[in-house]
Amino acid sequence: MRHVFRVSCLSIVASLAAGPALSQGNLNVYCSVQAEWCALIANEFQKHAGVKVAITQKGSGETIAQIKAEAANPKSDVWFGGTGDPHLQAAEDNLTDSYKSPALPSLHAWAQKQAADSGYRTVGIYAGALGFGYNTELIAKKKIAPPACWADLLKPPFKGEIQMANPNSSGTAYVAIATLVQVMGEDKAFDFLKAMHANINAYTRSGTAPMKAVARGETAVSISFVHDGVTEALASFPVKTATPCEGTGYEIGSISIIKGARNMANARKFVDWALSPAAQQLGAQAKQFQVPSNKDTPVPAEAPKFADMKLIDYDFAKYGRTAERKRLIARWDTEIGALAK
Ligand code: F6P
Repeated sequence: MRHVFRVSCLSIVASLAAGPALSQGNLNVYCSVQAEWCALIANEFQKHAGVKVAITQKGSGETIAQIKAEAANPKSDVWFGGTGDPHLQAAEDNLTDSYKSPALPSLHAWAQKQAADSGYRTVGIYAGALGFGYNTELIAKKKIAPPACWADLLKPPFKGEIQMANPNSSGTAYVAIATLVQVMGEDKAFDFLKAMHANINAYTRSGTAPMKAVARGETAVSISFVHDGVTEALASFPVKTATPCEGTGYEIGSISIIKGARNMANARKFVDWALSPAAQQLGAQAKQFQVPSNKDTPVPAEAPKFADMKLIDYDFAKYGRTAERKRLIARWDTEIGALAK
């Protein structure tokens, strides 16, 4: 589903009372985090800079496809959030513009590396680890042990109980595939995905949908970023998360300025602001608990602890390459997506 947020009349009134008048022009943002955070950044940047912000929220894979389709006549100025691999692909495909924010030295090394790897066409704003979400009540009712390892997802009790997203639309699903390839080797990873297909009940469009389905008790298990499970657990759903014992990957959620942005000065202002601690704290305020990229942004206490996980050394430069991303998604389409469900 496509959500379009125009900052509401009420919030514009609030902005006028609280900040500079809306005389600084416009900014159009494609936003690939969850809707609550997208709405908050629109309101807060509007207050901060007096810029009128229009936000369109959609997944990482869908957003890069849209930016590509609009390349001759760009409709948006900035792409905020979403997994880092398609941001790197957008950089390689010359769909985004180079910009070195003065905030760069304040960022963690992983966020600065994302910028350097892309020729400064993108930069990390947060990081989040991949894992499983599970519904504690459903698992208990079905007498299934919670998943702890990738290998558990192939077990017969999980038949029809697992959801993951479709990598064409979702950056989360692509991170899952690239992670399995790095953990197992490519052919074994595709054997695993084929075997797991028997236990999958749906490949969703959005990366956060499987965790929401776990929360609602529509599926027992999801392959998701674990911070998305924290959001659901805090909303009192019976959700817990785990990260796989064999090792797991992670995302560097990124921000990029779209090539040919009509509001270039505001786009740069927005990137500087998005990298600041004040802006990065809005994630936790919207109950989204990734690890922020600015060293001075407090890490929310609720954010899953990377030190407790077996993280792989995810090769962002390789798996963010256009040819690699296209090839792996095409292989998934042929070998798994095409199978009946
Ligand atoms: O907003 C939650 C989140 O998990 C982000 O951390 C991530 O970048 C994004 O969703 C990915 O969404 P999708 O898989 O739909 O591209």
